[in-house]
Amino acid sequence: MEIRLEILTIDSLFQLQMLMEKSNDYLTFQDEGPVKPSAAQDLFKASPDGIEDKDKVILGVCNVQEQMVGVFHLIKGYPNPKTLTLGLMLLEPNSRGKGIGKKAYDVLEEWVVSQRFNKIRLGVLFGNEKGLIFWKKMGFTETGEVKQYLSKKVFVLEKHIGA
Ligand SMILES: CC(C)(COP(=O)(O)OP(=O)(O)OC[C@H]1O[C@@H](n2cnc3c(N)ncnc32)[C@H](O)[C@@H]1OP(=O)(O)O)[C@@H](O)C(=O)NCCC(=O)NCCS
Repeated sequence: MEIRLEILTIDSLFQLQMLMEKSNDYLTFQDEGPVKPSAAQDLFKASPDGIEDKDKVILGVCNVQEQMVGVFHLIKGYPNPKTLTLGLMLLEPNSRGKGIGKKAYDVLEEWVVSQRFNKIRLGVLFGNEKGLIFWKKMGFTETGEVKQYLSKKVFVLEKHIGA
C-alpha cells in the first residue's frame, strides 16, 4: 500500500475541515468540545508563541486512491533547532488499524531526516492508551515531562532519528 504525504496549503481548507469533522471522536476527546466549523483554519493558525509561519507544516496523508485520509501538524526547529515537534497526527476513523499510520509515520520520519533534524518530539494525552501504544511501537520513549492541555495531562515522548 503506497502512502504519500503532501504539504497542504490553505487551498485544502475544505478537505481538511471534512477530515477533522469525520475524526470528531478523537478531536472531541482532545479539545474537550465538538469540532468547530473553524477547526481546519485554526490548525493553520495554531503554533506556540514565537513560531514563524515558515516553520509550521501541515501534511496530508494520501492513500493509494489519492484520498486524503489523515494529517500531520509539524513545527520545525521547536523547541530547539534540531528538533521537530509533532503537534498532531490524525487518521480518519475508517483508515485506522490497517497499517496506514505506521506507513505514514515511516514516510514522515524519512522526510524529517532529510530535513536534517535529529529528534522528533510529541505529546500524548493522558487517556489516549491506543496513541501511546502506537508511538511506543514507532520507537518513541517517554521523557518524564508532563505538560497540561486544557484539563488533561500530556506525556512528552521523543525519538532520536537519523545517524
Ligand atoms: C494513532 C494512529 C495515528 C495510529 O495509526 P493506525 O493506522 O491506526 O496504526 P497502525 O495500524 O499503523 O498500527 C501500527 C502499530 O500500532 C499498533 N496499534 C495501532 N492502533 C492500536 C490500537 N488501537 N491498539 C493496540 N495497538 C495498536 C498496531 O498493532 C501496530 O503494531 P504492529 O506493527 O506491531 O502490528 C491512528 O489510530 C489515529 O489517528 N488515532 C486517532 C488520533 C490519535 O490518537 N493520534 C495520536 C495522538 S498522540
